[in-house]
Amino acid sequence: MDAVILAGGLGTRLRPFTYKTPKPMMPLLNVPIVVRQAEFLRSLGATRLVVLVNASGWKIVSVLQKSGIFPKIQAHYESRPLGTGGALRSALDMMQGEWFFVINGDVCFFGDLPQLALCDESVIVVHEVTDATGFGLVRCNNETIEGFTEKPGEPTSGFINAGLYRLWKQDVMLLAGGESASLERDLFPILSSRGRLRACVFRGYWSDLGTHERYLNAHYELMQEMAGSEGTPPSCDFQVIPPCCISPEARISSSASIGPYTTVGAGAVVGEGASISRSVILPGAQVRAYAQIEGFIVGDLT
Ligand code: GTP
Repeated sequence: MDAVILAGGLGTRLRPFTYKTPKPMMPLLNVPIVVRQAEFLRSLGATRLVVLVNASGWKIVSVLQKSGIFPKIQAHYESRPLGTGGALRSALDMMQGEWFFVINGDVCFFGDLPQLALCDESVIVVHEVTDATGFGLVRCNNETIEGFTEKPGEPTSGFINAGLYRLWKQDVMLLAGGESASLERDLFPILSSRGRLRACVFRGYWSDLGTHERYLNAHYELMQEMAGSEGTPPSCDFQVIPPCCISPEARISSSASIGPYTTVGAGAVVGEGASISRSVILPGAQVRAYAQIEGFIVGDLT
């Protein structure tokens, strides 16, 4: 079955980092989000990958090709943003089968989805959260969807749209071709009202990486699940307070202190006496000598 990654958004909420690096290329524990997604889609049984990107999306396509996770990758370049629904609608001719997976390029899943391939209706994967503020809330009773509330303003617990779907081509054809549209607002309510959409609850690890806060939190949560300081170079002469994820290609001064809950990417440079905790140092970023950094994303914005 084909899998589609929606990777052509602007990533405005993760600026300024997304000026240079498209959001789906942002690293999660030093691996680009799209590469983690490709691994997950393979684990769901997808055999061919279609990536929907904007004009600067060649970086995304290139990193996916180099990963070798999918032998076949097809890219669809958009000349203007059409939204999640419009982008998918305009690439429908590229799908080889009647059914395909679709994933937002800014969510992360670890775990199994046993029922996903066994329904006759299109499926939206939902995940239970204690605070759905800022997410799309899906009111559902087991697999039956009762309604949607986009981005509730009040803190509410419940099931949110996790950004992963198994869709039927004919269902997506309900959207008008060549027009801007949102899957969440323009397609799913219609499918649900026609009894053509089911919910599937994902109980594994899930996170959305679309804002600075969520991006940092996902790093903390995933590191929490790691044993010790996985990802740290085996012999290092600087102080490491686990958990950490440190690229062997980072250059870190021997008098620096890294951790806890800190990621340092390839090509990053950390000066002498610097102390970094609960932070993500992106590839190529420079941390000056004696800097004290806690709870920040540090990038190379040049
Ligand atoms: P923000 O600007 O911060 O909201 O980020 P975003 O542009 O990525 O938008 P959003 O988080 O709503 O998008 C969810 C997913 O859909 C992301 O993976 C986007 O890359 C993707 N997406 C959004 N709009 C488009 C589009 O017009 N075309 C394509 N191909 N993907 C899109």
